[in-house]
Amino acid sequence: MRTREIVLARRPEGLARPSDFGLETRVLPPLPPGSVRVRALYWAADPGMRARLGGVRSYVEPVAIGGVVGGAAIAEVLESCSDSFAAGDLVTGLLGWREAGDFPEAALKKAPERGGMPIGALLGLLGTPGITAYFGIGEVGRVKAGDTVLVTSAAGAVGAAAGQIARLRGAHVVGLAGSDAKAEWLTTAAGFAQAVNYRKLDDLSTALGRLFPDGIDVLFDNVGNRMVDVVLPHMKLRGRIVVCGQTEDYSLAPERRHGIRNTSHVISQRLRIEGLLAYDHAPRYGEAIAHIRDWWQAGQLVAHEDIVEGFEQLPGAFCDLFAGQSFGRKLVAASPQGGPAQ
Ligand SMILES: NC(=O)c1ccc[n+]([C@@H]2O[C@H](COP(=O)([O-])OP(=O)(O)OC[C@H]3O[C@@H](n4cnc5c(N)ncnc54)[C@H](OP(=O)(O)O)[C@@H]3O)[C@@H](O)[C@H]2O)c1
Repeated sequence: MRTREIVLARRPEGLARPSDFGLETRVLPPLPPGSVRVRALYWAADPGMRARLGGVRSYVEPVAIGGVVGGAAIAEVLESCSDSFAAGDLVTGLLGWREAGDFPEAALKKAPERGGMPIGALLGLLGTPGITAYFGIGEVGRVKAGDTVLVTSAAGAVGAAAGQIARLRGAHVVGLAGSDAKAEWLTTAAGFAQAVNYRKLDDLSTALGRLFPDGIDVLFDNVGNRMVDVVLPHMKLRGRIVVCGQTEDYSLAPERRHGIRNTSHVISQRLRIEGLLAYDHAPRYGEAIAHIRDWWQAGQLVAHEDIVEGFEQLPGAFCDLFAGQSFGRKLVAASPQGGPAQ
C-alpha cells in the first residue's frame, strides 16, 4: 500500500512556512505481527508542534530533518495483526502527518464513546485540548466559585474549553482573543462573562484594570511571557497562573523571547505559577472525558471547529495558527477519495 507523509525539510526560522515542509510517498511493507495498519481521517494542527521543529529537546524529542512531522490524528483501522484492534475500529494517537501507517498496538487508543459529539471532538473537547483544560482549571488553577479568571487565546481549542469549565465551576471568566468574531462567539455561544479583541487595544494593562477592578484570581495562559508580564500586576493575593502554552514564544529563539519583569508581584501577592502538562493526568483521562461529554450533552459546553480538507493542506493549516488564522480547533480532514466515510 502506498502512503504520503509530510516531513520536515528544514528547521523554520521565526514563523514556520509551508516551504519548511516536504511531501513524500512511501510504500508500506507487509504488516508485522502485533502491529496495526491505520488510515487517518483527521489530523490536528497544534501550536505546540512548533516547539518540536526547532531541534531543541523539551519533554518530547524534536523532529529530525527529513523525519515525519508528529501530531495527533483520528484514524480507522484497515488491517490488524493485534488482538486488541479490528478492521473498522476508530482510533486516536500521535500518528504523525501521514495518510496511513503501521503502529504497534501500544501507540493507539480506541476512540471513546462520543455520545453524539462530532468526530472532530476526538481531537478537541474529548481529546488533549479538552483534557488539558479540565485539569488545568481544576487541578493547577484550582478554580472555585466566585473566582475571577482570565484566559488568553480564549477562542482556541484549549482556551475556550478552559474558560467554559471555569464558568461551570462558578467563576467569572473573561477571555482575550484576536478578532471581534472570536470575542463575540466567546460571550454569545461559550458563555464567557466578557471577551476582548486584544489586537484592538491601545494598552492591555489599562483594559485589564477596567475588566478586573478587584484583580484576577487565575490566569490560564496559552500565549507566553509577554502577556503574563502584563497580567502579573493585576493578580490578586494567592492568585494562580496556569502556564499551559506559549504560542507566541514557540517561534522565537530563546534569546529573543520576552522576559518577565513584574516578578515582585509574585512575592507581594504570594502567587503560584505552575506549568501544566496534560499527560501527567493520564490515569484520570476517563474522568475528564465523562464530565466533558455530560456537559456537552447538557448544552453547557460548546466548541468551534475550523476544518480544512486535504492532507496536503496540513503545513498551511499549521502555519495559519501563528497568524491568528484559526478559530477554535484547527483540523485537516482527509479528502473523501483518500479515506473512508466517517
Ligand atoms: N500543557 C499542555 O499539556 C498542553 C496541551 C495542549 C495544548 N497546549 C498549548 O496550549 C495552547 C493552546 O492550544 P490550542 O490547540 O488551543 O491552540 P490555539 O490557542 O487555537 O492556537 C492558535 C491561536 O493562538 C493565537 N496566537 C497565535 N499567535 C499568537 C501570538 N503571537 N500572540 C498571541 N496569540 C497568538 C491565535 O489566536 P488569537 O487570534 O486569539 O490571537 C491563534 O488563532 C498552545 O500553546 C498549545 O501548545 C498545552
